[in-house]
Amino acid sequence: MTTQLSSPVTGNPGHGDAFTDHMVSLSWNPVDGWHDRRVGPLEPLPLHPATIGLHYAQVIFEGLKAHRGPDGSVSVFRPDRNALRFQSSARRLAMPELPVEDFLSAIDDLVLLDGTGLPDDPSISLYLRPLMFATDPNLMLRPSDEYRFLLMAFVAGGFFGDQALAPVSVLVSREHSRAVLGGTGDVKCAANYGPSFVAQNLARQAGCQQVVWLDAAEHRWVEEMGGMNLFFVRRTASGTEVVTPGLTGTLLPGVTRESLLVLADRLGHTAREERISVDQWREECAAGLITEVFACGTAAVVTPVGTVKDRDGDWVIGDGTAGPVTRELRQALVDTQRGVLPDPGGWRR
Ligand code: COI
Repeated sequence: MTTQLSSPVTGNPGHGDAFTDHMVSLSWNPVDGWHDRRVGPLEPLPLHPATIGLHYAQVIFEGLKAHRGPDGSVSVFRPDRNALRFQSSARRLAMPELPVEDFLSAIDDLVLLDGTGLPDDPSISLYLRPLMFATDPNLMLRPSDEYRFLLMAFVAGGFFGDQALAPVSVLVSREHSRAVLGGTGDVKCAANYGPSFVAQNLARQAGCQQVVWLDAAEHRWVEEMGGMNLFFVRRTASGTEVVTPGLTGTLLPGVTRESLLVLADRLGHTAREERISVDQWREECAAGLITEVFACGTAAVVTPVGTVKDRDGDWVIGDGTAGPVTRELRQALVDTQRGVLPDPGGWRR
């Protein structure tokens, strides 16, 4: 399905298939570097069956969003951070880095073309998906000599449906791991996502919406939820702590995660990184210390977690609904993205 943003968006466009009409494309080879820049219609690709990216997963991507604010302007949220992470993913997969200015100008071109009809509605955004993949039609086991960069977009509503603040239920995965030290967990490559689907299916079978990943070495430390970072809200005698697991090398350095640490601090909370074990999570909820947990990401924005299922017992976080700090941070993030709140410094392009 493609969506003409020049006609009004009706209903919730969901997540992932309301594509807009255009895409930006660049190619890379060792002689010309990045070349053959095109802005054209979104269309199927003719691919050789031996395209190396399809076989050996030399594929990276990004996710970022454009929003329209009440002043009518359309802005992209922190695309420079995604440009740098795209370079870091490329280095990890032995791919050529796309210069930041090429990444940003692709974003500018697509948003100018396909973002004009974006409504001034906080529940609707334009999700931008940069992708780079290896294109050599050659099945020797080595990095490709040629690559393609594509930027496409879709109109996005809620990742978890209509109710932005409806809490999700999670299953702690004891059988599968998302990432190992020395692996690729701290970059955004396609191969991090496909293998997570089996655990996601197990979560669904257990009646949960999402899977929570523990570290792969001790199966003890909480890392991420599905394809999103996690935050814990703890009440202490001196105030509220907003904590998220540190970037140990197996977690994705989320742009939303990084932004929420700044916003939480500005809102007067103690915002910091802290390692939290699954037992501690359960015990601190029972003791009334951890009162809220939420997931965050470009797609998820800020999504409350309500209930946890685990082999050692299930528990409810707070009263199982979206708590005040979760609501406050979601609002601060959305308002910052839409220019309702002042730009903390070069966040809106
Ligand atoms: C995002 O939050 O944009 C992601 O990339 C995670 C997933 C939906 C692919």
